[in-house]
Amino acid sequence: MFDLYNRKIDYIRVSLTERCNLRCVYCMTEKGIEKICHEDLLSYEDLYKLLKTLSKAGIRKIKITGGEPFVRKDAIDFIKLLKQDSSFEKVTVTTNGLLLDKYLDSLIEMGIDGINISLDSLREDKFKRLTRGGNLKLLIETIDEILNRGYENLKLNTVLMKGVNDDEILDFARFVEERNMAIRFIELMPIGEGRAFKPVKREEIMEVISKEFGKPFEIRGSFGNGPAKYVSFQDFNGKIGFIDAVNHKFCSECNRIRVDSKGFIRFCLQYEIGMDTKEYLKGNISEAEFLKKLNLKIVEKPLENNFLIEDVDSLSMNQIGG
Ligand code: GTP
Ligand code: 5AD
Ligand code: SF4
Repeated sequence: MFDLYNRKIDYIRVSLTERCNLRCVYCMTEKGIEKICHEDLLSYEDLYKLLKTLSKAGIRKIKITGGEPFVRKDAIDFIKLLKQDSSFEKVTVTTNGLLLDKYLDSLIEMGIDGINISLDSLREDKFKRLTRGGNLKLLIETIDEILNRGYENLKLNTVLMKGVNDDEILDFARFVEERNMAIRFIELMPIGEGRAFKPVKREEIMEVISKEFGKPFEIRGSFGNGPAKYVSFQDFNGKIGFIDAVNHKFCSECNRIRVDSKGFIRFCLQYEIGMDTKEYLKGNISEAEFLKKLNLKIVEKPLENNFLIEDVDSLSMNQIGG
């Protein structure tokens, strides 16, 4: 499937649930979220049907996300079902990692194509405050367990915020250097609770890291299906990535759509433009009609985000699916 700007759309981010076992301060309010009624939540059966249909429109890569995907019952079985289906080339998961220990064996056994874990502080007390209750020790044990098993497609996601965790830049760099792995610094986007914090720019992060590790060199090639750009340094084991949607837009390379846990397909993270799938999933229109509608509708996929100039009253990140 191609959009109006000739971007090839072959990746979908699937939010299995809005719920989360954490309530990170930049993502959710202390109160958390209202539960979606059961009838509104897309069943696994419907979601599978939808994804199979979308594969006929060229969707080949699936990112399972949330909220926290593993909060939803039987998420692991659903991921396995997708992984066993040859319509999908890559099935990856983005998680806060705190429920992962239970599912590691299954994920590795099924050959999951990527695991991304959020890690926003390396200091126990701060991690607890930022996530409102998360256990850093458990998370680091899980990360190390994944690495010890020789799993190579593990990456970290870190959202830096001024005055909150930007004093830990070098600690994060050393953490991945010791483990020869990749970390991505994600620029905070002004969405929901994220608006209350100040983002840190790529240039500021690079300045701190380069002072310690020297001149960076760009790493070409892709380590995932996403927008991250990576650098490394001489004698540095590990990769430092950047996903900065505000100040280094990657919209011209955007390959994705999203589907939220209620079955709304969203064309861009910033805007609520997209299409509902209920009509199709209830059987009111045929698969061919649905695909035709989608192909017509995809021309509405925005050219780019406009976070810098336009404040859209959007949902929170856990609802959009990150
Ligand atoms: P992989 O490289 O395949 O693992 O994909 P990824 O890096 O896109 O996955 P991940 O789920 O870890 O996303 C990392 C960050 O990128 C999250 O903060 C997302 O919100 C952000 N992100 C992912 N896709 C988009 C996008 O299309 N637009 C914007 N603005 N941000 C995105
Ligand atoms: N801006 C950027 N990234 C965010 N995430 C959650 N909220 C925001 C935001 N406002 C990140 C999480 C997780 C990923 C899926 O999205 O930290 O790593
Ligand atoms: Fe949960 Fe991720 Fe939001 Fe944190 S950022 S509250 S882990 S969905």
